[in-house]
Amino acid sequence: MPTEKEIVLSGIRATGNLHLGNYYGALRNFVKMQEDYDCNYFIADLHALTTTPDPKMLHENVRNILAEYLAAGVDPDKATIFVQSDVPEVSEMYLLLNMHVGIGELLRTASFKDKARKQLGLNPNDESEDIERQIVGSDSNKRVNAGLLTYPTLMAVDILIQKARKVPVGKDQEQHLELTRRFARRFNSFYNVDLFPEPENFNFGSASVKVPGLDGSGKMGKSEGNCIYLVDDEKVLRKKVMRAVTDQGPQEPGSPISEPVENLLTLMALTSGPEVVQQYRDAYADCSIRYGDLKKQLAEDILKVTTPIRERYLDIRSDDEYLAKVVRQGAEKARERASRTLEEVRKAMGIIKFY
Ligand code: TRP
Repeated sequence: MPTEKEIVLSGIRATGNLHLGNYYGALRNFVKMQEDYDCNYFIADLHALTTTPDPKMLHENVRNILAEYLAAGVDPDKATIFVQSDVPEVSEMYLLLNMHVGIGELLRTASFKDKARKQLGLNPNDESEDIERQIVGSDSNKRVNAGLLTYPTLMAVDILIQKARKVPVGKDQEQHLELTRRFARRFNSFYNVDLFPEPENFNFGSASVKVPGLDGSGKMGKSEGNCIYLVDDEKVLRKKVMRAVTDQGPQEPGSPISEPVENLLTLMALTSGPEVVQQYRDAYADCSIRYGDLKKQLAEDILKVTTPIRERYLDIRSDDEYLAKVVRQGAEKARERASRTLEEVRKAMGIIKFY
């Protein structure tokens, strides 16, 4: 009997284009995993609604990410690629699972507090504000939407409805995964069933990489405005790299490398390989480093990675027929398993049809 492949599931929110952080943190591994696992990759358009409900942009964003998945090498004949909202079973199970989720545990989720602070117009870095009181007191114009609060329920359903065991995500999603495991255990034990396996984070091959931004500190992130997008054209990309923050240069031999320069070397390690990085480390150590050269090399090597992706992206993105075919095929597969799970959930909960 052939052994069944383990189920992998991951999704990316449809809020814009993908950057190098997404590529090295997620997409590249998505491609590697599709050979050995039952891979399911989706575009989380419902999750995007919790923060950016823009009807004009939403569909464009879904299309962008879909085309980027494909351009980066995710193969629809190997992996299941689908759009979250194409699987309506997810929405129904989200309602059902919410009956077993505590408001308190959702209120305490770090990502919720961050985003709620933003929606209330509070200082996102000021954790001293009593956020729960602010939320209860907020008027309906300046509200924190309930969808944001229940974001972890929806994410748990994405995972549990496919019975996925392996969920490749960044460190920032660890708390959501922990909640997913807790909800799975809770459901299983409350109804005395064995429906849901507990999913775990999964970094294929190497440890998870943190991709730094170009602004000297912190990781690459869309809201930080420090990104290189996979679909940046050559001119834009070179300009961004040439403008990246560095320092005044090593003042004496053997100086420790400053954070901004270390960040560029981290990017270089991903795109150019260890020998090239060593060369610049040595040059930093003996004070012969020239940041102009480093940046030129970095831009060149990033372009080697992104250019083929960008070219495929431009072809794919306008191919309506192909995109439709991919997501239709993906939705069919995703719904098959989702509808089976939903039936089991309804039955466990006592929702039984008369006819
Ligand atoms: N919350 C994830 C993020 O922001 C996206 C996501 C939604 C997801 N549902 C998921 C990731 C299910 C993995 C599995 O990155």
